[in-house]
Amino acid sequence: MLDELKRIEKAALAELSTVVDQAGLDGWRVTHLGRNSDLMQIFDNLGSVTREERPAIGRRANEIKKALESAFEGRVSALEQETLSRSLQGDRLDVTLPGRRLALGRLHPDTRTLRELYRIFGEMGFQVYRSREVEDDEHNFQLLNFPPGHPARDMQDTFFLETRTGNSSNPLLLRTHTSPGQIHAMREAASTNPDNPPALRMILPGMVYRVEQTDARHETQFDQVEGLAIGRGIRFSDLKGTLADFARRMFGPQTRTRFRASFFPFTEPSAEYDIGCFLCGGSGCEVCGSGWLEIGGCGMVHPIVLRNGGYDPEQYTGFAFGLGPQRIAMLRYHIEDIRLFWQNDIRFLGQFS
Ligand code: PHE
Repeated sequence: MLDELKRIEKAALAELSTVVDQAGLDGWRVTHLGRNSDLMQIFDNLGSVTREERPAIGRRANEIKKALESAFEGRVSALEQETLSRSLQGDRLDVTLPGRRLALGRLHPDTRTLRELYRIFGEMGFQVYRSREVEDDEHNFQLLNFPPGHPARDMQDTFFLETRTGNSSNPLLLRTHTSPGQIHAMREAASTNPDNPPALRMILPGMVYRVEQTDARHETQFDQVEGLAIGRGIRFSDLKGTLADFARRMFGPQTRTRFRASFFPFTEPSAEYDIGCFLCGGSGCEVCGSGWLEIGGCGMVHPIVLRNGGYDPEQYTGFAFGLGPQRIAMLRYHIEDIRLFWQNDIRFLGQFS
């Protein structure tokens, strides 16, 4: 019987080493350690063994049972280990690999330019005043001395809004320039002290809209930064000094400034404001042509506009200007197409750090 036990152990261990999966393990356990296994038969038959032999056989059978059980556990963990290392090999996950960088947002080139303008004019004592993008005809045109049918309206055709309560002689529209903000700012200030309205020095930034045939230099929406200074004894030389100083602060101390006579219904006299090209230093290049770059319009606030704003033109004078910050950004960053600004193309926006 001891021989029989040796055979049982050998056969069981040999078979166990060929087992490769869970089903094999289950089957092996039933066959070799189950109730009907050869080993269990030995235990069942111990009664028929002589008393002398019984203890030795019983002990051996128990040893073999333990040995088989521990061999079984060993095989189970070996197989688990194998499965684990196989899956580690297969779907390799390297936890030391650096993560993907999150793209950091940046300021839009227009925002950067605007902030610089706010800083420069802030240093010169100008406050930022915001006014609405949806205006009515009265503020956008009439109060700025563009009566209905005035030819200067042609340059600023825009988007009119249809409203149910709308008044056909004063339709709502998307503002074509930031100049209507002049009226809001003056009226707001004058209402605080109508007999002696306070002096004003402000810039009015914001989006404006025009019906345009779009191309590299024209968009249906763009920014403007309006400037407005009202007080007693303000002269054209103050306007020139302010804009010349602005140009030097924005583009460098050597920057030259030029004023060319022009026309706007709401300023008199009016001028176009040019700066000496900072790319070629004024000798003329493919960007400027003549050595000068036009960056805005300006003039002395028209007496009719002062009166419409609540300021007595006998006592007050003032100047106003309108700058195109996108024009400035295009020059500074060499942007060739104005339409890039609002297309939100990450490849464009990511270039400005
Ligand atoms: N509003 C004018 C424009 O859009 C610019 C301007 C502003 C001119 C203020 C003079 C004074 O074209």
